[in-house]
Amino acid sequence: MEKPFYITTAIDYTNAPPHIGHAYEKILADVIARDRRARGREVVYLTGVDQHGQKVQQSAQKAGLAPDAFARGMTSQFLALWKTLDISYDRWAETTAPVHKECVQAILAQLHADGQIYKACHGGHYSIRQEQFLTDKERGPDGAFGPEWGEVVFIEEENYYFRLTDHKDWLAAFLDAHPDQVIPSFRWTELRNAVAKLSGDLCISRPKSRLAWGIDLPFDDDFVTYVWFDALTNYISFAGHTSDPAAFGRLWPADCQVIGKDILVPAHGIYWLAMLRALGIPDDRMPRLLVHGYINLAGDKMSKSSGNVVDPAALAVKYGPEALRYYLMREAVTGRDMEFSEDRLVARYNSELANGLGNLLNRALNMAARYREGLLRRPAESPLETPAAEAIALHAEAFARCEPHAALEAAAALVTRCNALIEETAPWKMAKDPAQAAQLDGILYSLAEALRILALLHEAVIPSAAAAMFAQLRTADRRLAWGGLPEGHVLGSPTPLFPRIEFAA
Ligand code: MSP
Repeated sequence: MEKPFYITTAIDYTNAPPHIGHAYEKILADVIARDRRARGREVVYLTGVDQHGQKVQQSAQKAGLAPDAFARGMTSQFLALWKTLDISYDRWAETTAPVHKECVQAILAQLHADGQIYKACHGGHYSIRQEQFLTDKERGPDGAFGPEWGEVVFIEEENYYFRLTDHKDWLAAFLDAHPDQVIPSFRWTELRNAVAKLSGDLCISRPKSRLAWGIDLPFDDDFVTYVWFDALTNYISFAGHTSDPAAFGRLWPADCQVIGKDILVPAHGIYWLAMLRALGIPDDRMPRLLVHGYINLAGDKMSKSSGNVVDPAALAVKYGPEALRYYLMREAVTGRDMEFSEDRLVARYNSELANGLGNLLNRALNMAARYREGLLRRPAESPLETPAAEAIALHAEAFARCEPHAALEAAAALVTRCNALIEETAPWKMAKDPAQAAQLDGILYSLAEALRILALLHEAVIPSAAAAMFAQLRTADRRLAWGGLPEGHVLGSPTPLFPRIEFAA
């Protein structure tokens, strides 16, 4: 039996509430997951939250809460948003879950026993205010550390290191042999260049004196695990790596790990692949990475600290969750950055959903009701059969490339074709001429059948709207090919689906 399609997203830090970038990523993965399910594939979609680490500890401190209580509070905001946005994840990852902690500790113990982890002493400049070691990159032009770092002291600290450099040559050769491991391809190139420059091992511990909010090292309880080593492990801990090896064997590798461009190098492209190799995962079971761009506001990166944030929950309330889903999937070219604009959201919705698809549904059902009481007569041929077949093919190819924007473009072209057919043939004139009765039947059938296909082509992105379309068309036929509506089918009555957004954004 074919293995399930295993799709994951990054797990979001719980130091602050969710923002539009988090929402975009979860919707992108959701849409890919829904598309694969619709094509008959078993899917496991994992998403979740990253609850440990310094960021969370610091935010909790500022809020006057214990880190676990703070992380739980933030987690509930993520959960509520994913419900609002209809994110169809199958599994939920929380890094404080026992199954995850056990896996992280089991992996650390294995790597330690295998000699992949060693202890060493490192001296360096440490910013007390920022609670981090500084490198030469943080020095100003005069060679000194700037005032933003506060007091900087030289300290020597013992820590545990993972032998990352041992895997450098393998990683370079592996990537060379697998140019599709990272998409889009320019991100593969970026990663390959970073691997060529890789030097130094990875520090995977933090002394508890500095950071207490993390998973204890199994072999030294003066230390907790570095947050990235902890977080990356979620992709296998929630797949049963330690808790259910048989299930893990069936699910792994991840077919699509959806991540943002900022966490490819070094986290996913280098640390993660090296960790898996060190654990003994063979080359043909390495995960594939889908790297998306940033949703930007007014030209600059939406920083986690600048407060420059559009609230996705508020947008979902104002316009409806599916208007937001449609806009993000239609306008963001997978892999590229996108400028977020509420005006564009409204414009897309009004032109393509209200005037385009919604209006088409309404006109087609209205005409069928008025002229034929909803009864369809299937014609031998249809002017929409070829355009529908083309849209179906383009849509499938677009999803195979993980490009929902291109899939929606193909669907939008079919909507335009259908609306043009109505203008060209003027069914209201045909209805007055009994000699054209068969022709009118053909047009009414063609429009209804094209709408059935359009519901399928939009379903992954706007599932509730698609369900409403199926209900109004009174069909449950989900075959993605022309001719699903049978001879003699009776359509339902029309209810407006996408009321125009009339107010200014
Ligand atoms: N916790 C880590 C990921 C660990 S994965 C094992 C992290 N969290 S994050 O909250 O900062 O980011 C989570 C995801 O959201 C990342 O994939 C990141 O790229 C994505 N985005 C954060 N801001 C974004 C935008 N403005 N636009 C699109 N995606 C963005 O990194």
